[in-house]
Amino acid sequence: MKSIVIIGTQFGDEGKGKVTDYFAEHADIIVRFQGGNNAGHTIIIDDNKFKLHIIPSGILRKDKKVVIGNGLVVDPKVLLEEIERIEKRGITADNLILSDRANLIMPYHKAMDALEEKLKGHYSAGTTMKGIGPCYSDKVARFGIRVSDLYNPRILKEKLSMVIPIKNKIFNTFDEEIEFDIDEIYHEYLGYGDMLEKYVGDVSVILSQAFDEGRSVLFEGAQGTHLDIDHGMYPYTTSSNTVAGGASIGSGIGPMMIKEVMGVVKAYTSRVGEGPFPTELNDESGEYIREKGKEFGTTTGRPRRCGWLDMVIVKYAFRMNSLTSLAITKLDVLSGLDEIKVCTAYEHGDKIFEHLPADIETLKESKPVYITFDGWKEQNWEHISGEGYRSLPKNMRTYIEYIEKETGVPAMLISLGPKRSDTLIK
Ligand code: IMP
Repeated sequence: MKSIVIIGTQFGDEGKGKVTDYFAEHADIIVRFQGGNNAGHTIIIDDNKFKLHIIPSGILRKDKKVVIGNGLVVDPKVLLEEIERIEKRGITADNLILSDRANLIMPYHKAMDALEEKLKGHYSAGTTMKGIGPCYSDKVARFGIRVSDLYNPRILKEKLSMVIPIKNKIFNTFDEEIEFDIDEIYHEYLGYGDMLEKYVGDVSVILSQAFDEGRSVLFEGAQGTHLDIDHGMYPYTTSSNTVAGGASIGSGIGPMMIKEVMGVVKAYTSRVGEGPFPTELNDESGEYIREKGKEFGTTTGRPRRCGWLDMVIVKYAFRMNSLTSLAITKLDVLSGLDEIKVCTAYEHGDKIFEHLPADIETLKESKPVYITFDGWKEQNWEHISGEGYRSLPKNMRTYIEYIEKETGVPAMLISLGPKRSDTLIK
């Protein structure tokens, strides 16, 4: 494994944190390349639960470098709090590198997130309210404040003096009683700069040297393929490129440096926030999956919408990401169900769609076409994980092999529970 990207094939929350943590053992460097603290990873080690939002999950492995790439939007206050939290639990952040080119989430981005969501009405995506979209908007509009600006006080002051009056004017236009103060933010952010300075570096140079030295690099995706700003169900997406190609742009490496792409497929589908969800279950089965799968947002605590596995979206993710292997997660959650359904296509009027339509209305109105699998019973999954693939219930193997056949990609990792020990390599 010289370079691998781990990507979500659905709407995020596929269990990437656990999969990343598992493969991080074999990597020298773990890199996040997009998103911000809208993401949430829960990792359980020896009954200890770690919730991370911005720091890559590799931080929990000693002697690994973990990198926050230029493609992220970083809330420095949140990053510092997260560093403090993990250090209190005995994990050092000394091996963390923060890209000097990453954009910073500013207080006005969070306020703008709330305002824009309100103004968008039914086009609101149900964001995490962390300021992600407005920060990426400012990056693209070239209003952004980058990490390197924290070390050039004159430029920082100049940029804030240009941006903040514009933001204040927008808030005032919409009768928001919000007024951001240039000096206050200037001093606050210079302070963050001081505290973060020891982590800041040129990620592209660091990764290039690492590749030259033959080191293994793991790129940890956040969110999922269908939340991608270009390829997801726009406008119900996040604001970054969550697909594998984003790893190149968001960390400053050439695309040829990516050798493997692992797609994480949750055995069913979940979605948090607004947007089309053809296989959503608003019934007892959906409730069963939500409760058993503990499908509540790591970042916002919101109950996740749950539904059957949708192979139309998983196959789309295969195409978008050049997947070379799969990790299939949370299969244990489906145990106890007599029947398990999988969507193979969408029906819309007299049309059958085998590929995702771009038109969001069509997608909202589409009905799933299902095939049905026989279920399997609850087992001691930790024990079975140690016994190997052949000891899995036959119906579960049929389900796994169907996913492999439909995507044409082998499953490498099977996850049967939240712990490291509930994992099986096929
Ligand atoms: P934002 O990324 O906060 O702007 O939110 C945009 C959409 O992406 C909303 O529907 C969020 O619920 C969703 N979203 C953002 N981050 C995650 C994640 O880590 N997992 C699942 N959904 C997410």
